This record gives sequence, structure tokens and C-alpha cells, in this order.
Amino acid sequence: MASTDPIFLKNCWYVAAWPHELIDGKRVARTILEKPLVLYRGESGRVVALDDRCCHRAAPLSLGRVEGDNLRCMYHGMMFAPSGKCIQIPGQEVIPPKLGVGSYPIVEKDQLVWIWMGDPALADPALIIDYPPLRDPAWRGLPGYLHYDANWLYIVDNLSDFAHLAFVHTHTLGGSEEYAFKTKPVAIERLADGFCVERWNMDSDPPPYHRKVIANKKDKVDRRNIGRMHVPGIFFLETTFAPAGSGAERGNLAGAREYRNCQFMTPETRRSTHFFWNYLHNFDTDNPNIALSLYESMCEGFNEDKAFIEGQQKLHDLDPEFKMLAIGADAALSHFRWTFNQRLAREQAAATA
Ligand code: FES
Ligand SMILES: [Fe+2]
Repeated sequence: MASTDPIFLKNCWYVAAWPHELIDGKRVARTILEKPLVLYRGESGRVVALDDRCCHRAAPLSLGRVEGDNLRCMYHGMMFAPSGKCIQIPGQEVIPPKLGVGSYPIVEKDQLVWIWMGDPALADPALIIDYPPLRDPAWRGLPGYLHYDANWLYIVDNLSDFAHLAFVHTHTLGGSEEYAFKTKPVAIERLADGFCVERWNMDSDPPPYHRKVIANKKDKVDRRNIGRMHVPGIFFLETTFAPAGSGAERGNLAGAREYRNCQFMTPETRRSTHFFWNYLHNFDTDNPNIALSLYESMCEGFNEDKAFIEGQQKLHDLDPEFKMLAIGADAALSHFRWTFNQRLAREQAAATA
């Protein structure tokens, strides 16, 4: 599977896991950018990422045992430090200094475990994109994970276009087919590392996922979505439902209910993706059923997307040369692919130099 084609950006932070996946000495085997890795939390609390392949006889280290902050391969017992260096060989005194496995920088921030797959000397934690709602108690949500059998850029495309809400998610997240005909992006901002789009839908019925968690189900709403996508595949969505005609477009948010949604696409391989997400809300936060209901609605919605996205990947595999034709609504996703390719070309040029 692995190849040397330049298709992944390496010098950037990717989400590798939610912290709850690493409780109780669990070793998580997870492939990222076509590198099989093992992730675990050592006894000191630090999270470690190593190659999931023992340098001795290539046994999976994810079948190993955590001892302190180290990991013992449970085939012949060699032990590896968080640096990847072999520090013990049962029955052998001398350990050749070169013996070891790859180790990757990890940072935990705001309920996310981030990994750096490129040059460790460049792994600056200040480059991790900040998402304050994940640490702000005013917002409540549940962490989610979904695996896609598709290249991450198909998921980025999907999130870049709100028009699909109307058709793919008519009865879940969208609410009506009308959304695609009546609403247009009011602004597309081209960012150096992605884009920002804003879309309004005035005087409409609350979509099903929102209706489930509010009492005034029949009242019309003005709905605003602001989506931001950042290289390599990080999406933030700000959603506001204000009482129809209340002037939300002029900044009056009295009576509005808001959501903050973050989604992190981490390539597993060139044709599969880890998808981490959290859909947070800031109203009735003392009622845990709201977060649960939103979690379930999102799972339903994302599975609707998944059918289309994995279908695209299957068709791509049958005919990789097929050229897609753009329409006006694709401006944001086209810009994203352009910025991504620029960044990839710069990284490749620096690596060659
Ligand atoms: S394969 Fe890991 S110690 Fe032998
Ligand atoms: Fe969708």
C-alpha cells in the first residue's frame, strides 16, 4: 500500500485519537498516512506513538505491553522507550545503539491527541489549530469517530458544499430540498490555507435534527452556517438558529440557539480516512439528552454522506482517469484543492532541496 508518491502533507499536525481511546493501558493500532502506528498512554500520563512493527521480527507492537512509559514487544520481549530506542533485550547484555523503531511527536490539546508525521525538528505545538469551544464549559458535546473507505479529499469536498444538505440530508440535517434552490453562499473568503463560506436560509422550518432538541418546534427560524476549512482537512462549522425576522443578520442574537462543530480528517491511506468530530451546543447544557440526540442525528447524517463518498471512491478506483466537471457551487472546494496542492508542492520542493 505505502508508496513514495507525494500525496500527503507530512509537516503538519493531524488528529490521531480521542483521549478516551487510550484509557487503561490500551494500545491502539492505527495507520496514519500509510504508516502503521501504535498509540498508548504511558504510566506518567504521556501519550506515545511508535511504529507498530517491532524492529526484530516485525511483530505488531500493538500486541505488546505497556511498562511505565515503555512498550514491551510480547513476541521475544524487547522493550522500547518512548523515543523508539530499544532499551532491553531479554538474555542479551549489549544493545546495539541503532536498534529501535520510529517515534512520532505527540501533543494533547483540548481533548484531542495530535501527531506530527513529518520532520520532528519542525513539530512546533504552536502550529496546532486552536478550537476554543472544545475547552469552554459553555459548550457541550460528545466526541465521535467514523471510518471512511475513501480518500479524505472526497470528505473535504462534501463539507465544502452546503448545497448537498438539501438532497443528501433532506430528512435529517437539511430539512428541505428548497435549501439548495433558495440559498446561496453570501460570501466565500479565500484563505491562504483554505476558505470560509457563509450561507443564510431565512424564514424556514427548523431542520429535523434541531427540531428534536427544542420545545418551539413549529416556529420559523433564520439559519446561518459559516464553514471554515483548513489544510490538511480540518473543518469548523458555526451554526445559528435565530427566531425568524429577529434581525440575526444584523447581529441580534436574542433567542438564538447556536452550534459549533469541528471535524478532523486524518488520512489513513490514500483511499481511507479517520474522521473525528464533535457537535457542540450552548443551550440547555444541563440536559445531557441534547448532546446525545445531536450525536445520534450527526451519526445518521454522516452515514448518509458516507454512502455517497464511499461510492465516489469505488467509482474512482474503477476509472482513476475520470475528470470531474465543476459548477459554480464548487468555488470553495476548488480553492481548497488549489491551496492544498500549493502547500504539497512547497513541502516536496523543500524536501528535495
Ligand atoms: S519480534 Fe519483537 S521482540 Fe522479536
Ligand atoms: Fe453531509
